[in-house]
Amino acid sequence: MALVITVAQQKGGAGKTMLAANLAAAMATDRRVCLLDIDPQRSLKRWHEIRGKQGRALPAITFSDVSGWRLRTELERLMAGHDVLIVDTPPQVDTEAKLAIRSAHLVLVPLQPSPPDLWAAEGTVQLARTEKRPARLVLNRAPTSSKLRTTVEHDAEAAGYAVMANTLGNRAGFANAFAQGMGAVEAAPKSVAAQEILALLREIEGVVA
Ligand SMILES: Nc1ncnc2c1ncn2[C@@H]1O[C@H](COP(=O)(O)OP(=O)(O)OP(=O)(O)O)[C@@H](O)[C@H]1O
Ligand SMILES: [Mg+2]
Repeated sequence: MALVITVAQQKGGAGKTMLAANLAAAMATDRRVCLLDIDPQRSLKRWHEIRGKQGRALPAITFSDVSGWRLRTELERLMAGHDVLIVDTPPQVDTEAKLAIRSAHLVLVPLQPSPPDLWAAEGTVQLARTEKRPARLVLNRAPTSSKLRTTVEHDAEAAGYAVMANTLGNRAGFANAFAQGMGAVEAAPKSVAAQEILALLREIEGVVA
């Protein structure tokens, strides 16, 4: 059965799709990875389509955007046939996102280091708690140090939210790789963006071990 990672956060533009794509690309080298896009915007689907045009140059990642009433059986089907299933969700917690959280071994909640992003994360973290699923905040577009970052980290800790130690900076490498249907580890393996994703992945593996 696949390890299921659901990326969720009610705040739009927090980096859910970027994170899902980059983790998938980083894991696809040695695992059977599937992406499930349940966001009606279908940005991840676009990314995967661009990727497909590169032929066999990149490791295969399977893709599904089955949602609605068929989502439950689709989750079961995809879990049975892969090592890792990464679910990208819309910027709201609807019935489908709830199901994706319920099915997850780990819920990742990306947020930019600002109070509104943290407030928006609360609903997702609470839902994960209700479903008894581990959730971790992932600071995205985070400066190495700033007053705002320290404040958000402090507030998250005070609220009892678990925050991943590894963060992602605001890097053109992520946006450039995405535009080419790649993860940073593929488009620029030596870049800081790639190193950040690999470090985050190692930490994730420790959490789900
Ligand atoms: N760390 C980063 N560095 C640079 N650009 C980033 C970073 N994270 C996200 N972006 C860019 O910010 C934009 C929003 O990211 P993304 O689409 O992943 O957010 P989202 O949470 O999926 O948004 P939505 O809620 O609309 O689905 C994209 O253009 C993406 O390339
Ligand atoms: Mg998205």
